[in-house]
Amino acid sequence: MNTRSRNPIQVPPLLLTSILCPVSDPALGSRNFVDGSHCSQVLRLAHSRWIISLEFHFDLKCYLIQEYLFGLLHLVHIVNACFSENDFEQCERVVKDWAESSLDKEIREDKHTLRDLLYFLHVPRTGGRTYFHCFLKKLYPSNLECPRSYDKLRFDPSKPKCRLLVTHDDYSMTSKLPRERTSVVTILRDPIDRVFSAYEFSIEVAARFLVHPNLTSALKMSKRMRSKAKGISTLDIWPWKHLVPWMREDLFARRDARYGRGLHIKESSDSYNMEEFTMPLQEFINHPVARDIINNGATFQVAGLTNNSYIAEAHEVRHCVQKYKILGKYVLQVAKKRLDDMLYVGLTEEHRESATMFANVVGAQVISQLNAPNGNLDNVDNTEQRSFSDSDPDSNEQHQNGTSDGEASEVTSGKSGEATELNMTAGQLMDAYEGCISNLRKTQSQRRVTSLKRISPVNFSREARLQVSKEVLQEIRSLNDLDIELYDHARAIFYKQHKTTLQTLAEERWDSISSIVHGITLWKVLPLSVSFVFIFFLFLVIVNVRRRTSKLKMKVMKS
Ligand SMILES: *[C@@H]1O[C@H](CO)[C@@H](O)[C@H](O)[C@H]1NC(C)=O
Ligand SMILES: *[C@@H]1O[C@H](CO)[C@@H](O)[C@H](O)[C@H]1NC(C)=O
Ligand SMILES: *[C@@H]1O[C@H](CO)[C@@H](O)[C@H](O)[C@H]1NC(C)=O
Ligand SMILES: *[C@@H]1O[C@H](CO)[C@@H](O)[C@H](O)[C@H]1NC(C)=O
Repeated sequence: MNTRSRNPIQVPPLLLTSILCPVSDPALGSRNFVDGSHCSQVLRLAHSRWIISLEFHFDLKCYLIQEYLFGLLHLVHIVNACFSENDFEQCERVVKDWAESSLDKEIREDKHTLRDLLYFLHVPRTGGRTYFHCFLKKLYPSNLECPRSYDKLRFDPSKPKCRLLVTHDDYSMTSKLPRERTSVVTILRDPIDRVFSAYEFSIEVAARFLVHPNLTSALKMSKRMRSKAKGISTLDIWPWKHLVPWMREDLFARRDARYGRGLHIKESSDSYNMEEFTMPLQEFINHPVARDIINNGATFQVAGLTNNSYIAEAHEVRHCVQKYKILGKYVLQVAKKRLDDMLYVGLTEEHRESATMFANVVGAQVISQLNAPNGNLDNVDNTEQRSFSDSDPDSNEQHQNGTSDGEASEVTSGKSGEATELNMTAGQLMDAYEGCISNLRKTQSQRRVTSLKRISPVNFSREARLQVSKEVLQEIRSLNDLDIELYDHARAIFYKQHKTTLQTLAEERWDSISSIVHGITLWKVLPLSVSFVFIFFLFLVIVNVRRRTSKLKMKVMKS
């Protein structure tokens, strides 16, 4: 046997090693991560096998050369795998360092007291828009709003006395704010629903551009509209500025392909999987853009690690966490602590309870703060007259007075602050809110219907969601594992605060705010019993008076 001398190529074992030493693949998360000791064992094993495999393959020269090429390729992979250990270690260090520096050590006793600046950390598609329009805009005069909340130009601290900041910018924004004078509030939503909503909204806004014959003309028109309009468009606001153009391009490509092919359309009843018209949901959530922006989006936003973050290391930390799932626990730790320290955490699902609590916890404090002497309007320049508008393709009319576009149109105007009533109570605020949201919802749903018509038969609805397969739902869940855990934490915070708020209200202010408190029956019972006592008292008085008058009468008669 002279195979060894005939074949100086040490190849087949490499093929073996590649099987035994799996390569870390970011797409698969960190489970395939190979540690150093494992790697060297594999190499030793491969070395002994080499002889066997050589004996096995002797004489097959051609085959061996092919194997050699394979082998080289796999060698590269092995080296990668062994390097990925260092990569992991480095990632772990980066993430840990970040978490260490982000955890606020101090325990804040007064976290439920409103400070000078209210920062509304608005996670996209949680319904925060309605809080902005129907609560905050009614509470704060527009000159107290920080400049350009929701703006393409990021926060400009040139207006230091502003009191309200509402934005999709993530928590890293607080690095620009006076931390110890800032109260943070947010609303979280069930992660699966949030993903659905982000997908639907991206497509809904993009579909409005389909009035144009082609993408070129859509882009041209959109550019012209945006330069003409003084305001802010959905397309200027993170994350829509990434998601909408992406979907817009996709919709036009699919439409062009449809027209090119003629009108042979496969019938499908699943609106979330009609590839002739829109990008299927499954493809969407697995796309790198959605992976970076949508999945676990709430956690990254609360942690200050979004693609839009202000802190330099955010991108490295985020990429590490996306690559090695096990590092997610550090991010969660920070995000949970931040929720704990917030003035208020609402839940999209518990809409009524959340709004009521917002009125009582935040609204009531804003009212008393702004009513306090010197609480308001000192040194605030009044020149800021912003007018945001949504310059999308099918609206030549300016939607100055509505949020015609749901969450992302970010339509506001200096004038729409309406009567800011500083002397209203939390109860009145709640009443105003109810009226406001029903109007808002009406315009939103009209807009949505119009937009979805352009991609009919695709129609996003509750019923349509039921068609989505279990596998896709499971995929969404697994891609949003951090958000799911954070949401559970938010629920715990919410119910705890809900309980204490109710208690406080019942104890202290049941009379003035009782009409809006949900689930408390005290206010129904108490007036009733008071009336009973009163009636009884009245009865006694009347009886007494009668007796006296009859006595009197008798006296008169006697006399
Ligand atoms: C797009 O549509 C416009 C307006 O109808 C037309 O003038 C232009 O030639 C079209 N461009 C392409 C690339 O088809
Ligand atoms: C954020 O994500 C979008 C879409 O993937 C990308 O175009 C953009 O460059 C990203 N920005 C940063 C700072 O990573
Ligand atoms: C704006 O308000 C005016 C009058 O209040 C109303 O007629 C108009 O329809 C509103 N526009 C939108 C887009 O809601
Ligand atoms: C879409 O679904 C909604 C709710 O099921 C329905 O009211 C609406 O008519 C549908 N639209 C189209 C264009 O089918």
